[in-house]
Amino acid sequence: ASPTNTIDPTRESVAALYAAMARRLAVVRGRLRRPLTLAEKVLYGHLDAPETQELDPGRAYLALRPDRVVFQDVLGQSGMLQFMQTGLDRVAVPTTIHCDHLIQARTGAADDLAASLAENGEVYGFLRSAAARYGCGFWEPGAGIIHQVVLETYAFPGQLLIGTDSHTPNGGGLGTCAVGVGGADAVEVIAGLPWELLHPRRIAVHLTGTLNGWAAPKDVILYVAGALSVSGGTNAIIEYIGPGARTISATGKTTIANMGAELGATTSMFPYDDWMARFLAATGRGDLVPVIEQNRDLLVPDPEVEADPETFYDRVVRLDLSALEPHVSGPHTPDLARPISALAAAVADNRDSLVDHLSAALIGSCTNSSYEDMSRAADIAAQARAHGVRAAVPLMVTPGSDTVRATISRDGQLETLQEIGAVALANACGPCIGQWRRADPAAETPNVIATSYNRNFPRRNDGRATTMNIIASPEIVTAFALAGKLSFNPLTDTLEGEDGTPFRLAPPQPAPDVPSQGFLSGTRRCVMPPADGREVVVAIDPASGRLQRLDPWPAWDGADFSDMPVLLKARGKTTTDHISPAGPWLNLRGHLDRFSDNMFMGAVNAFTGETGRGRNVLTGETDAVSAIARAYKAQGLRWVVIGDANYGEGSSREHAALSPRLLGGVAVIARSFARIHETNLKKQGLLALTFETPEDYERIGADDRISLAGLRDLAPGRAVTCVVRHGDGTQETMALRHTYGAAQLDWFRAGSALNTMSRRRAA
Ligand code: F3S
Repeated sequence: ASPTNTIDPTRESVAALYAAMARRLAVVRGRLRRPLTLAEKVLYGHLDAPETQELDPGRAYLALRPDRVVFQDVLGQSGMLQFMQTGLDRVAVPTTIHCDHLIQARTGAADDLAASLAENGEVYGFLRSAAARYGCGFWEPGAGIIHQVVLETYAFPGQLLIGTDSHTPNGGGLGTCAVGVGGADAVEVIAGLPWELLHPRRIAVHLTGTLNGWAAPKDVILYVAGALSVSGGTNAIIEYIGPGARTISATGKTTIANMGAELGATTSMFPYDDWMARFLAATGRGDLVPVIEQNRDLLVPDPEVEADPETFYDRVVRLDLSALEPHVSGPHTPDLARPISALAAAVADNRDSLVDHLSAALIGSCTNSSYEDMSRAADIAAQARAHGVRAAVPLMVTPGSDTVRATISRDGQLETLQEIGAVALANACGPCIGQWRRADPAAETPNVIATSYNRNFPRRNDGRATTMNIIASPEIVTAFALAGKLSFNPLTDTLEGEDGTPFRLAPPQPAPDVPSQGFLSGTRRCVMPPADGREVVVAIDPASGRLQRLDPWPAWDGADFSDMPVLLKARGKTTTDHISPAGPWLNLRGHLDRFSDNMFMGAVNAFTGETGRGRNVLTGETDAVSAIARAYKAQGLRWVVIGDANYGEGSSREHAALSPRLLGGVAVIARSFARIHETNLKKQGLLALTFETPEDYERIGADDRISLAGLRDLAPGRAVTCVVRHGDGTQETMALRHTYGAAQLDWFRAGSALNTMSRRRAA
């Protein structure tokens, strides 16, 4: 069968989507009889059953029909392995796989890509064959980072897209409702099932004025992250509205939408405007624009909503872009935002352990490698070059896609950056996801890097807790690289030219949002699947150390869980990076058993303050948390984890749920959960529970045993009784809450969401 392309959006498919959205919205409007926000229009326009769907933000689960699914190469492995369990022949919606996360950054683009092809050939071969077998598009290594490729190829206003990566909301810059999900969610959708989403609350950021001088779209989201915090967007969609939103380019909007993930938001979206039309046309999709224009009312909030946001949103943040100062955020958390004028004092006071000397600077990634970004960074580099100044520290550039790389090579931005010493890395995630193999001894002691990436948890970039990451716009990071120190404020301070003369950098010139000559398409494209893939053999070597076929989880046996030890009580911020670290472990994501040796390696033990280690209550010996879990499992002993607030924030890493399931965990009891991780735990058949009284977290001791009673009566909204037998022999009862809907409780009973699906297919 010849390769087919049913994957790209076409005029016809987009028109059909809008017609379907309009039909569903008419039903919902008849029920609600009030103006709608943009997110409501797109979500309600994708309802599986608009006549009967309960519409209660923060409580109801929406059953939705996404238009598209995208996988990155790490979760693509487990996603395809799980899809294979369903027995289906072809994915039900357009689906693509993107090879971006596994490419390591060592010396530079060409060598790093060649090394990755050699190191990961087996995994790429599996993904390529699985894509062909099941009808998915396959974006080969070097083509680009998933979100940038989606932006250039698939995103358009009004689309509902899910992706197995937490920065999927990147597509919100083009008006797509793009949501990061776990692999299990994605598998269900490609198997043809509706996707369940807790009905998001509504947050608006109302923008007025215009960015000017050094201020960039990055500063909008850094400011908003500081205002709302890393959990401020949980279970909410953030819409950027107001006249200021219409002054920001499509790729500037994309940066803002991308980093909405840092606030825990379900996604972030911008209403359709002319910037989006320009970007669509510049990326070869101008034929979609007339269809989009005809349906503009579906793609913007109703006029009453923008006129009076306080009435229609649960929360409104107002921001005057004209008065916005460049911001920096970090270290260790993206909501630790400061105006740049406050940074030098923070460094001088050694606040947040900040040190002045920078060890490296990195720009690009899926967040900030647009044509506009690279042009503004190159403007700063050109000013330095004119004074004979080069970067004082290693400066690296990560293009978001081969299209970006080819275009900024043609138009000179890359060369200008290279002339001040920058090194171009592969069009891949690299240092953004712990794939940075740093030879620099500076990384072994506390050191600061500046990046224009999105996430700055410890170990995120080079796998080392000693490295602190300060996030800023690409132009500010480039200025930091020139100065080599964090206390440098380019708005007020001077650099020294080659001849010893001080000079001040001028703010970057306004840069074009799209290249005047158009984008070059790059050399790497999507490999289309054959029309019928049933003859394709999926490549998995049974002896592989990288790939392992997955068996279904056992179903719940119907009995309560009694007398379980606390494997770990995690203290403070516990991200999915802490539960399931990336870095070198990424290579084992297709082999769950070997991968799970990393479980909780980055989590802080509340009893000891140690990271990744605990005490085996059966032997009294200290060991790695994963080793203790294996020891309990070998004894047939089930265990629980106690979590702190916003447990599981960060990446949509389903392995943070798969590993606890594999190693014998049955429940996580936390003060509160981050949305994606909570759903991932549910999908894998674990119980995700919260203390009704959050202070009860403090009452759990190292030698306590936990029993969960009355599980046969589990029901939506009904508390779970937890009996805690303390180490001193005393006992107390605590009430636990949960957010399971009726269908989700079936996942728990069947052992997993996939088991539920297989049972339904068999029935
Ligand atoms: Fe990759 Fe970092 Fe983006 S890991 S997808 S470049 S957030």
